[in-house]
Amino acid sequence: MKTAITEMFGIEHPIIQGGMHYVGFAELAAAVSNAGGLGIITGLTQRTPELLAKEIARCRDMTDKPFGVNLTFLPSFTAPPYPEYIAAIKEGGVKAVETAGRSPEEYMPALKAAGIKVIHKCTSVRHSLKAEKIGCDAVSVDGFECGGHPGEDDMPNMILLPRAADELKIPFVASGGMADARSLVAALSMGAAGMNMGTRFVATKEAPVHDNVKKALVEATELDTVLVMRALRNTERVLKNKGVDQLLEIEREKGASLKIQDIHEQVAGVYPKVMIDGDMDAGAWSCGMVVGLINDIPTVKELIDRIMTDAEQLIRGRLTGFLDADSKEALKVA
Ligand SMILES: Cc1cc2nc3c(=O)[nH]c(=O)nc-3n(C[C@H](O)[C@H](O)[C@H](O)COP(=O)(O)O)c2cc1C
Repeated sequence: MKTAITEMFGIEHPIIQGGMHYVGFAELAAAVSNAGGLGIITGLTQRTPELLAKEIARCRDMTDKPFGVNLTFLPSFTAPPYPEYIAAIKEGGVKAVETAGRSPEEYMPALKAAGIKVIHKCTSVRHSLKAEKIGCDAVSVDGFECGGHPGEDDMPNMILLPRAADELKIPFVASGGMADARSLVAALSMGAAGMNMGTRFVATKEAPVHDNVKKALVEATELDTVLVMRALRNTERVLKNKGVDQLLEIEREKGASLKIQDIHEQVAGVYPKVMIDGDMDAGAWSCGMVVGLINDIPTVKELIDRIMTDAEQLIRGRLTGFLDADSKEALKVA
């Protein structure tokens, strides 16, 4: 399949793996890129720019295909040295960066000077337009369904994607709630040039996380995520667990006076406990509503091949079938 996104990033399929803290290591990024998508290493999971340089080199050993790095600008307890991270990305020869959180405006000159394509993750049309204005090459339009930080507008993708299509000149991918061929074809119909998946890629053989995490994703339904940190205007969609129950209890007690320090135990340092140790009750970790559509743990290649094969069938069979008066295809249930 050829779209503005496959052409921009030099990839075979219009599928991007979003940056994921403690999941987006070289193993997953290389697996996605080898399967024809765009794999992304999560920059800040590497504690220093030197470690990121090593992770990029490790990924380069595992794939000769293009891959990218995610740089997340979110409120954190200590601000990371972003210019040094960008230098490591540049020196590692990486040509794609997914930015997220705050606007990457301050860092655009350095990224552009290095010939890097920037795709900024946005949860609103106004932020997408700002990204376009400051010179981003593409946008990842992230609906309210998404795992991680959906922003504060609560706008689901059925509205957000066509709104983005109406306003943007640069290409965008649909992010949040994407799991299979149905997601991809729907996203393309609404004007996207591809899709970005987070949660779905965690439940794959190559995702370098504890088996408990993958098992939890297969077992959970679409009703098992919840929003936390609303009062801090740092809303995050996470999988329910005992640590999150405690967090919600503290949020109820503190109300509008909630401070990040009040929930430090339930949000700080949780990812290694969950992803490495498999402690599923440790606290808040991002997970999308799309978890309700995850029923297996395929290899990344099986997943991507299945999406692309089914997408072709959907488009050539079901969709064109609706236009053909004699077609039985049109009357089949999906
Ligand atoms: C476990 C996990 C960790 C994530 N960590 C990050 C992160 O560090 N930076 C970021 O920009 N997005 C992060 N995300 C968001 C994803 O990149 C992606 O935008 C989101 O998962 C899309 O929604 P979906 O889960 O419905 O596919 C994370 C998502 C998950 C599931």
